[in-house]
Amino acid sequence: MKLISRYTMMLLALVVLLTTVAPVASATGTTGNSGSKKLVLGTSADFAPYEFHKVIDGKDQIVGFDISIAKEIAADLGAELVIEDMGFDGLLPALQSGRVDMVISGMTPTDERRQSIDFSDTYYKSKQVIMIRNADKDKYPTMADLENEKIGVQKGSIQETIGQGIPGAKLTALDKISDIVLQLQTNRVNAAIVEDTVAAGYLDDVIGLAPAVPDEEQAEAAIGIRKGNTELLNAVNGTLERLKSENKINQMVTEASQLMADKVKKDQNIFQVFWQYKSFYATGVGFTLLLSALGVIFGVIIGLIICLLRLHDVSILRWIGTAYVEVIRGTPMLVQLMIIYYGLALTFGITFSPLQAGIITLSINSGAYLAEIFRAGIQGVDRGQLEAARSLGMGRGAAMRFIVLPQAFKAVLPAIGNEFVTIIKESSIISVIGMVDIMYQASVVKNITYQGMNPFLIAAAIYFVLTFILSKLLGRLERKLGASDRR
Ligand code: ARG
Repeated sequence: MKLISRYTMMLLALVVLLTTVAPVASATGTTGNSGSKKLVLGTSADFAPYEFHKVIDGKDQIVGFDISIAKEIAADLGAELVIEDMGFDGLLPALQSGRVDMVISGMTPTDERRQSIDFSDTYYKSKQVIMIRNADKDKYPTMADLENEKIGVQKGSIQETIGQGIPGAKLTALDKISDIVLQLQTNRVNAAIVEDTVAAGYLDDVIGLAPAVPDEEQAEAAIGIRKGNTELLNAVNGTLERLKSENKINQMVTEASQLMADKVKKDQNIFQVFWQYKSFYATGVGFTLLLSALGVIFGVIIGLIICLLRLHDVSILRWIGTAYVEVIRGTPMLVQLMIIYYGLALTFGITFSPLQAGIITLSINSGAYLAEIFRAGIQGVDRGQLEAARSLGMGRGAAMRFIVLPQAFKAVLPAIGNEFVTIIKESSIISVIGMVDIMYQASVVKNITYQGMNPFLIAAAIYFVLTFILSKLLGRLERKLGASDRR
């Protein structure tokens, strides 16, 4: 038992260390210093030159002309700009639930969107184009040639709506533009609908533009504000007016396009990719460990409680314990995460940061599995042990603590270890809400390098090293506990 508490202490120390060392930020890109008023910007940073990730001075930053505009707005308000990067179709809910204050993401103020949020004056115009592989250049002279074709679009964008209007088109709707380009490069789709300014960043010897034009009309971009927040709306329009009169927006577009044009080398090998982006992965490892460690600790606590409920004499408590296990085990963790992160915020106004939502989801989820493991352990201890202890005059509690639980713990240690390894791997799911863990960072590196394989191979290697170290440590603990049997 002494040994166990030493390990618990070590784990706790690790958690304390991680919580203090790792910055508890959500997504990337906090600028300025703390203390002052904050202006939270929601954006989908996959849309060069509007907003995109770029390594500057060895650090991952979100840049683009939308970001420049956001900085001007924040400066005019005397506020500190905080950037939340997320999937494009997550932006409206994020704004409505108060997670972000404004959305600048090359967003077109459509009538449909106007029903749920307000828009500033427009600040930019663009045209829709069709990207194809250069090899297919002559295949799509008109829109009619795209009928029944496999087409990639961004989820929740006006391009998706345009695609839905093409008869028979088989749409692949994805979160990030870079994923759509990847699909095009790998022949999974044969065309993609995007805006001309954005397409410019992807054109090379493989990817080109089709002569077909999806929409003659130009689409405009405006800034999204929560309905009724007229104060911010007026401030935003004020800044836009100033920028337009100073001809600043054109200048920002030019600068952003230049940043976008100096492309990264595509031919780096896996070691070069790792070395150049090691700081990305290091941040990811910090958050993955933090998530998993806290998930394990709270998971164990929840697991113990649920296990006690399941073994209780009072049938209603037993029932609650069983219901918890069945419901949590019977639903996907991704769904649980969405409910905790978006559901609670939109329905009850309970807004968790990605880190909080991640820890809660992991704990709730692993709690169910751990409860079952604990129960199996306790029930696996021969009844005679408890009876013998009781007949020697031990109370029920003491008999549990000194006789049953130590044996149970030893028996299920391998299963517990398994669950810890699972938690480390499953924590990668939390990346979908913008938690900057290993998985998230791998996607960022993928978006920057346009490489599909190396960034994820690196992530796989890191996860493997982490879980391997953990199983070795657990193996040692198991052997130490086993030693007492052989005495
Ligand atoms: N203008 C289009 C729309 O409003 C696409 C915008 C996509 N923006 C982005 N950051 N990915 O639907």
